[in-house]
Amino acid sequence: MVEERSLTGKTILVTGGAGFIGSNLIHYLLENYSEIKIINLDKLTYAGNLDNLRDVETDPRYEFIQGDIRDRALVAKVIPKVQGIIHLAAETHVDRSILDAGEFILTDVFGTFVLLDVARQIGQLEFFLHVSTDEVYGSRETGYFSEDDALNPSSPYAASKAGADRLAHAYWVTYRLPVIIVRPSNNYGPYQYPEKFIPLFITNALEGKTLPLYGTGENVRDWLFVEDHCRALELVIKKGKIGEVYNIGANNEIPNIKVARQITQHLGKSEDLIKLVKDRPGHDQRYALDCQKIRRLGWAPQVSFEEGLQRTVEWYCQHEEWWRKIKEKSSDYRRFYKQYYQDR
Ligand code: NAD
Ligand code: DAU
Repeated sequence: MVEERSLTGKTILVTGGAGFIGSNLIHYLLENYSEIKIINLDKLTYAGNLDNLRDVETDPRYEFIQGDIRDRALVAKVIPKVQGIIHLAAETHVDRSILDAGEFILTDVFGTFVLLDVARQIGQLEFFLHVSTDEVYGSRETGYFSEDDALNPSSPYAASKAGADRLAHAYWVTYRLPVIIVRPSNNYGPYQYPEKFIPLFITNALEGKTLPLYGTGENVRDWLFVEDHCRALELVIKKGKIGEVYNIGANNEIPNIKVARQITQHLGKSEDLIKLVKDRPGHDQRYALDCQKIRRLGWAPQVSFEEGLQRTVEWYCQHEEWWRKIKEKSSDYRRFYKQYYQDR
């Protein structure tokens, strides 16, 4: 029986808190815990966006530090102030990792090493929650990956996450750093950067642009609403066993073509916008997780894909300024898409 950990009265370091999952998680924790302090350490790469956290920036329970998880001196100043770490900071887009893997190795692997190593030296943490990904297992046509299955990543992104995942595990085995690892499936919801499949397709459809579906469109992802993911992270912090790995998936396995069609239907747009384009190199066919372990802890997704997609589409319709600022004003976004479309 694991003794339950509490978040009340604690100071928690969230790395990568200005990104998609991080900003949803910070909102979730501040809404649900009146006595908590969150320190958000984020480098503000192209994917980090302080607009995601405008409504909490003056909250006395929240502190933002702009900085790099690879900066050992900075990390060594922050970690002594906290009882727990939720490590989300990473380079996260598979297509970018295919164009240039360097930053993925430096942040996802080396950055994770710096956090783990400083945490080990300082030594006061109650938990270090490492957010890995289901992509570390690789692809499978049938059946489900459980936590004990071998890792077989396909993309440079997934390989860098697999390196970080096993390094975090090694810091538990070797140094007894209180690491817990989660491997979540594809998240979707508000504040997701419009390079990822669902927000790209919603915003392109709103702009009347084509929806570039890779290959045959038959690849399958298991879609997890970000709020359900936040609830799972909270539960794992409270009840998860130190040293263990937990898959987090919602059993929403849907082929991309079907998701693309649902997006056009939600928006009342023509399916003719969907255009099959050259496939992603090494494109994983299917991700599928066995999630019995986290379900035994007491978690289950609460938001169906129909409801989650509806809420996500509505959010992008109501926050046009948020995504237009990225799509129209970010030089990085334009640079990436120039190169990306040259390849397709
Ligand atoms: P994101 O790309 O939206 O955000 C990443 C954040 O990390 C950004 O705010 C960025 O500025 C910050 N960051 C990047 N490099 C940094 C560095 N060197 N130092 C400090 N901050 C840095 O990512 P996301 O989709 O929110 O994913 C968060 C985490 O969850 C990642 O570790 C990712 O691998 C994992 N994950 C994501 C999904 C998903 O579907 N989005 C699924 C499973 C796992
Ligand atoms: O599975 C978890 C992972 O999910 C996370 O670890 C990653 O950080 C996150 O980016 C995501 O990876 P995917 O590669 O699955 O997500 P992406 O949104 O890039 O693509 C989802 C599916 O849609 C995939 O099969 C590729 C396809 N796709 C994607 C884009 C961007 C398209 O068909 N067209 C597109 O333009």
